Amino acid sequence: MEPTDKITPDWMRSAKTRGERIAALTAYDYPTARLLDEAGVPVLLVGDSVGMVVLGYPDTTQVTLAEMRHHVAAVARAKTRALIVADLPYHTYQTAQNAVANAHILMAAGAEAIKLEGGVAVLPEITALREVGIAVMGHIGMLPQQVKEEGGYKIKGRSKNEKARLMADAIAVKEAGVCALVLELVEPELAREITARLAIPTIGIGSGPHCGGQIMVTPDLIGSFPWFRPKFAIAKADVASVIRDAAQGFVRQVKDAGN
Ligand code: KIV
Repeated sequence: MEPTDKITPDWMRSAKTRGERIAALTAYDYPTARLLDEAGVPVLLVGDSVGMVVLGYPDTTQVTLAEMRHHVAAVARAKTRALIVADLPYHTYQTAQNAVANAHILMAAGAEAIKLEGGVAVLPEITALREVGIAVMGHIGMLPQQVKEEGGYKIKGRSKNEKARLMADAIAVKEAGVCALVLELVEPELAREITARLAIPTIGIGSGPHCGGQIMVTPDLIGSFPWFRPKFAIAKADVASVIRDAAQGFVRQVKDAGN
């Protein structure tokens, strides 16, 4: 693949066979998507994390399809080489029919693949999406859309039962045709076992180093959301300080000019 070729779901599906690790980041707006694309990030997720790190909701469960569509369209206007994956938000895929209808809305806005949370429980929805030709990224482990039921963000796969359930989920969604599988807060040894078992890449977040790639919420990476950052996320920049310093400098400059 040439460095200018458009990234496709098949590129992602075959990454493990090629021995290529996948770096993925979230993007919610045009300038960030363009910058990340220029930096060579191959996969951009318009995640429903937008609800927390951009829209100020306490969790992702309040994000609507209309909000996702708005952010997907902004990212798509950046005309990226990167593959644009969009999250189906909470309560938009309770049946196979509404999963397909709502995924079509995000695809029409510019998404090139759809991510949805869950394992065996969402097999009918994944299957229906694949049947109409929509590429799907799976997501198992800690499911942020279930945070209220879970009572917080917790590591998954510590008990024998949970391990067996997550392995069964991983195999089932792979068989249903997902092109990659996000493992969120999966106990690292189990993440290693799932990664070894699947022919498609696993993409870890807080799941240790043995996944086929890693995804980060971009504001965690660049330090633009300083009020909360998960323990596993290491920031490589401090954009919050840059913004505060620039704003304070501007305020001083305007005040001084008025003297
Ligand atoms: O919404 C999101 O950003 C995600 C990632 C945490 C994988 O689903």
